[in-house]
Amino acid sequence: MLTITTPAEMRAWARVQHAAGRSIGLVPTMGALHRGHRELIADAARRADAVVVSIFVNPLQFNEPADFDRYPRPIDDDVDVCAAAGVAAVFAPTAATMYPTGFQTRVLPGALGDVMEGPGRPGHFEGVLTVVAKLFGATAADIALFGQKDYQQLRLVTQMASDLDLGVEIVGHPIVRDDDDVAMSSRNVRLDDEQRAAAVCIPRALAAAATTAASAHDADAVVDAARAVLDDEPLAAVEYVTVFEAETLEPVESIEVGQRRPGAVRIAAAVWFGDVRLIDNRDLFDGG
Ligand code: PAJ
Repeated sequence: MLTITTPAEMRAWARVQHAAGRSIGLVPTMGALHRGHRELIADAARRADAVVVSIFVNPLQFNEPADFDRYPRPIDDDVDVCAAAGVAAVFAPTAATMYPTGFQTRVLPGALGDVMEGPGRPGHFEGVLTVVAKLFGATAADIALFGQKDYQQLRLVTQMASDLDLGVEIVGHPIVRDDDDVAMSSRNVRLDDEQRAAAVCIPRALAAAATTAASAHDADAVVDAARAVLDDEPLAAVEYVTVFEAETLEPVESIEVGQRRPGAVRIAAAVWFGDVRLIDNRDLFDGG
């Protein structure tokens, strides 16, 4: 397995792959790889001939400098994980090669960036789309895998790839969960034992919402069902809970008959445990 550290070398490697008739599958990450990332890598390996995993803690997408500073960076472990998973190349560029002096172009999200994570994290999605566009350019990926865990990010990247004719197919991968159903996240390692145990309130709250949605039409009743579970957990501080249309991300007020099917309506939540912010979401009508 190769470790590549500059966009120029990355492009040169990608050209060789394509010249040899091999398709390239990209899994963009910020490292601290866990089982969620590993499942994305395995999915990419089934769909493409050569898998590239990018590992780059992107300064442009952090609105809190402290969050950027304390983001975990176990690069040696991450490289081992990739080697064991049969990855062809790890792309781990430095910030200086990604954003050299004089760098100035950004990708601006549209309306999909104005809801949920958008208002509370100014500049976040602009930073995400900018780096993802650069990663697509450097790796010349034919296909790229993103997790539904960051559902809004997945929608925004899909929209960007289409709007800007980037020629890369975007695949969304289902949320990978721990044994107690808490979504895997690089931020979970920052929870203490009590907080980690308390975090189970998030999947429970989303499940309670789905149960309520089976009989309720009013989205407020569905949100209230989730909030009741979260409010019961003293270590959890809710930032938002929202029911939204899966395609447009627009808030749903009344769940119509035609929307009561898998893939139409989702619920998302952002919840703080101390200074750790966790997000999760689920389909309200997938039955699981
Ligand atoms: P990161 O948080 O490292 O996540 C990398 C990819 O793994 C994302 O597509 C994310 O949705 C997916 N992922 C993380 N946890 C998951 C889980 N439990 N189940 C399924 N997929 C999961 O998201 C980013 O990095 C960055 O914003 C990035 C796209 C790399 C741009 O910097």
